[in-house]
Amino acid sequence: MATMTTELLGFTLAHPIMPAAGPPVRDGAALLACAAGGASALVTKTISVHPAEVPAPNMADFKTYFLNTELWSELPAEQWLETEYPQTRQAGLPVIISLGYTAGDIANLAPRVAPFADALELSTHYIGNDYGPMQAAIQAARVAGVPVLVKMSPFREPQGAALAAQEAGADAIVAVNSFGPAFGIDIEHGGRLWMGGKGYGWMSGPALKPIALRMVYDIARVVDIPVIGVGGISTGEDVVEFLMAGATAVQVCTAAIVKGPDIFGKLAQQLDRWLDKHDYDSVTQIQGLALKQPIPAMAQPPVLLIDRCTGCNRCVTSCVYHALYLEDRKIHIHEERCAQCGLCISRCPVDALHPPA
Ligand SMILES: Cc1cc2nc3c(=O)[nH]c(=O)nc-3n(C[C@H](O)[C@H](O)[C@H](O)COP(=O)(O)O)c2cc1C
Ligand code: SF4
Ligand code: SF4
Repeated sequence: MATMTTELLGFTLAHPIMPAAGPPVRDGAALLACAAGGASALVTKTISVHPAEVPAPNMADFKTYFLNTELWSELPAEQWLETEYPQTRQAGLPVIISLGYTAGDIANLAPRVAPFADALELSTHYIGNDYGPMQAAIQAARVAGVPVLVKMSPFREPQGAALAAQEAGADAIVAVNSFGPAFGIDIEHGGRLWMGGKGYGWMSGPALKPIALRMVYDIARVVDIPVIGVGGISTGEDVVEFLMAGATAVQVCTAAIVKGPDIFGKLAQQLDRWLDKHDYDSVTQIQGLALKQPIPAMAQPPVLLIDRCTGCNRCVTSCVYHALYLEDRKIHIHEERCAQCGLCISRCPVDALHPPA
């Protein structure tokens, strides 16, 4: 069994996997269910000074992506302070309280939630491209005297924003929030729309993962504070990708909605099994591995490990340069036709094609 413990902002977490702000943490009871489901820390649904007026319908699952137009918590701050936060603390896990949005909102909320918070997470989703309002919100949050995490939205340039957050006193960056606005149409029912409000939604789930990974990779290269990755995680291997991209820990929202709060413990088990299988002793060994890798350059055709080839034809079909062919159910190449595009390497299910040394 690999060592899964993760040091984050002075806390020793059992493993690096926690919920992200969203419906799975919509109130105290839901947060306790996440704790029972194996989360290592708890992030609460974003609250603001006024409860959100959430349009309905506000969620739809398209399998490769998920749309929502849920905004922040529809529960008033007073209810969180009186009931939901005290209940959340019963879990005995670090509690990260998510707040939005302006410096004025945060100045109002941060001192009130401070008795229940081990850290604050600020959503920057609705405060524009300027770094000024974000920096002012961070400074307002610092009066709570606990670490301040700043959550990035994926439609903004990440490195400048993360550096500006760090400069203003952020203790960690969370990347990313949902992407959008985006749109979904039900073609089987006359082009019916899926979302209330303006008809638009914000995209999360598997299709968000490559965008979120890029943001984590970019941010982790420039800041000196921890990065928490979030976006499209639904398997232990997804967690591995985020840790390798430079994340210290990860959050999960959509997969916890569609699969339930037991997902956190399951992901931790899958991560543990993956580390064991690949002979890593701890999560820390894989953190940031991708940051040390050179950007690949391919000047030769791929190397063919013919003995491994099962003759499945996948790489042949997709080689648009017609460089690959099968003979006696084994892979061969017309080297002069190969354009070194690299696609076949990612298509082979049995690792029979490698980049040239
Ligand atoms: C229905 C829904 C509600 C969300 N509400 C919030 C929120 O209140 N505050 C916030 O910072 N992010 C919110 N998010 C964004 C998630 O925390 C997360 O950043 C995003 O969905 C990407 O992760 P995922 O692919 O694991 O869902 C919400 C996402 C969904 C799907
Ligand atoms: S690298 Fe590209 S062009 Fe060359 S064999 Fe593979 S798929 Fe074909
Ligand atoms: S994808 Fe791999 S196993 Fe399939 S034909 Fe190509 S080299 Fe062989």
